[in-house]
Amino acid sequence: MNVPRRLFFAVWPDDALRARLATLATRLQRHCGGRTPVVDNLHLTLGFLGNVPTTEIASLQALTERLTLPAGEWTLDRYGYFHKPRLAWLGGPPTATLNLWHARLGEALAASGRPLPSSHDYQPHVTLLRHAEKAPPSTLEAPEWTWPLTRLTLVESILDGTRPVYRVLAECPATATASRRD
Ligand code: 2AM
Repeated sequence: MNVPRRLFFAVWPDDALRARLATLATRLQRHCGGRTPVVDNLHLTLGFLGNVPTTEIASLQALTERLTLPAGEWTLDRYGYFHKPRLAWLGGPPTATLNLWHARLGEALAASGRPLPSSHDYQPHVTLLRHAEKAPPSTLEAPEWTWPLTRLTLVESILDGTRPVYRVLAECPATATASRRD
């Protein structure tokens, strides 16, 4: 059956960072209300594809595995709020590595006829609260955490009740580089 499936590209935190993000989300909830994500679902979205016919999944898996991505880092250092979907997040400006990953993914997808939405709007973030009633207060100091960029994954979001379950369909490990620090 050629049922559409909801796909996106994600980068996952390591266990230590995931735990810190989960604690921060609970703390932020006291200021903003809303709902914290399932801890294992905390991630950074690099590109959102939305509904994709099942017949196109194999080629997207191959595309993901063929990407060449250098390892690097990203720094999370600020809170933000998307008003319309009422999301409170922790994020930071894209580093050179993150920009390169985004560009290489975008080029590969465009060549396969499935371009990503305009990268002007790309604000890397980790959603900490959904249905948040308020933006994080400006007086609240954000942490400064480093996120090692080691692996990009193609993920399916399956709605199971009210919470999505994320299933990794393919992955691309990043290649270690000698000099790049970001
Ligand atoms: P969010 O955390 O900011 O909601 C799976 O749904 C992932 O894809 C989530 O990280 C979500 O980002 C992102 N996502 C969902 N809908 C999107 C859209 N229309 N544009 C960009 N990203 C989207």
